[in-house]
Amino acid sequence: MYAHFNTLLMKEKIIVLDFGSQTTQLIGRRIRALNTYCEIVPYNQFPHDDPAVKGVVLSGSPYSVNDPRAFQADLAGIRKKYPVLGIGYGAQLIATYAGGKVVTAGTRGYGRARLTGIDAGDALFKNVNTGSTVGMPFGDTITEIPGGKAIASTDELKIAAFKMDDEPTWGVLFVPEAVETQDGVGLLDNFLTICGCEKDWTPATFIESTVAALQNTLGDDQVILALSGGVDSTVTAMLLHKAIGKNLHCIFVDHGLLRKNEFESVLQAYERMGLNISGVRARVHFYNALAGVTDPEQKRKIIGKLFIDIFDAEASKRDDIKWLGQGTIYPDILESLSVTGTVIKSHHNVGGLPEKMKMQLVEPLRLLFKDEVRLVGQELGLPKQFIGRHPFPGPGLGIRILGDITPEKVRVLQEADDLFVSMLNEWNLYDQVWQAAAILLPIRSVGVTGDERTYENTIVLRAVTSTDAMTADWAKLPYEFLSKVSNEIINKVEGVNRVVYDISSKPPATIEWE
Ligand code: XMP
Repeated sequence: MYAHFNTLLMKEKIIVLDFGSQTTQLIGRRIRALNTYCEIVPYNQFPHDDPAVKGVVLSGSPYSVNDPRAFQADLAGIRKKYPVLGIGYGAQLIATYAGGKVVTAGTRGYGRARLTGIDAGDALFKNVNTGSTVGMPFGDTITEIPGGKAIASTDELKIAAFKMDDEPTWGVLFVPEAVETQDGVGLLDNFLTICGCEKDWTPATFIESTVAALQNTLGDDQVILALSGGVDSTVTAMLLHKAIGKNLHCIFVDHGLLRKNEFESVLQAYERMGLNISGVRARVHFYNALAGVTDPEQKRKIIGKLFIDIFDAEASKRDDIKWLGQGTIYPDILESLSVTGTVIKSHHNVGGLPEKMKMQLVEPLRLLFKDEVRLVGQELGLPKQFIGRHPFPGPGLGIRILGDITPEKVRVLQEADDLFVSMLNEWNLYDQVWQAAAILLPIRSVGVTGDERTYENTIVLRAVTSTDAMTADWAKLPYEFLSKVSNEIINKVEGVNRVVYDISSKPPATIEWE
């Protein structure tokens, strides 16, 4: 297969062993936000040979240790070698190994509790306040901890946190990464201090070490990268450009399903950034291939395949290209490593392409969360038009025109979408929604303009709030705003006589309509 580009040789890192908790990624983000690099790895893949490891966090889990499905991990070679913090299930695991008792109640759940009986002398609890609230799963309690002692309680639990004697191993039954835990970030910070972390991992140090690693790995090799206009691929290009300059060849394809004027404006922005970029105007190819196709998956496949063919043709103009750049980010990687085996959403990168192109993959952002990608972009001088930009699907307006696609439908949708997005900006609402889109329905309805009866298209406005697109709520945009947008669209976009607002949440609806 492909030699994965090993992005970074970090000088220090924390390992989070993932036992499948929903908040494992959040632990990682909190630690990163404390300027300490950390990696999340499946519970049974601890990197024993990595000299950069400074400490280990054991995550929570959907299972109790008493559940036959519980993930077992061998902590020999970890405990006593590194400082260890077990959270929830992680704490139960430590207690069980110590010969302690974990009692599981019939019902499990999550609530808030108040910390009492804090051992003020314990380094983990420095500045953690008695009486502060903690987010706490309930259902499992540790009743005995041989070889260790309780260092915090709650009104209900005698052992809410413990430390093992004579070794830097702690367990907490509450969830420090949760927002409900008032002093949770402080507690994690204390753990990093215990681990001896320098806490100097910042966007600037990431850029410096990544650029050095890229130069080291790529040397004088040529790299090709498809740009989408989105933040991930753009920041990938900026890093590669900084490392290897003109040896990076970027391709930006106009599939005719971008937003109004987007191809030109994004292409110009890329040129201003000094990228070595070819814009490929291929809209006619896409419209021809899509003519008469109504099935959403079929449309996606046609768009994906044609995109790859065009990219392939561009790449094969040069036979000296050894590497394919991709804007893969950490959640994409983590999802494919999911220990519980539930992959919620498959990814839509330019996947599938490299197999026959015999190129190696270079993915400089593969260890970053989305918010970190933005910070790195900002540090690199990412133009304002890219920062905070709403997500936009690869197949573009192709999955927002329900039914078959024609150039005329694309025009109608582009006009309506442009008015919607421009007005969100004018009203300072753009940054308050995760994603906003106009959708063109394959039905017409009767209206009246002046004395004329009309029979025209319907536009749906969709705006959602979300944190990760896995779930989303419809945005409660002001009525006055919706009323103005509706008037603008109906008055200005020829071919539209009705505008409706989508008030469905995800689940059970999805963000896109196809
Ligand atoms: P759904 O519609 O599944 O969308 O709620 C969740 C997020 O994924 C985006 N999306 C796509 N992105 N290719 C992409 O690159 C696709 O085929 C695709 N389908 C959905 C969607 O815009 C939203 O941000």
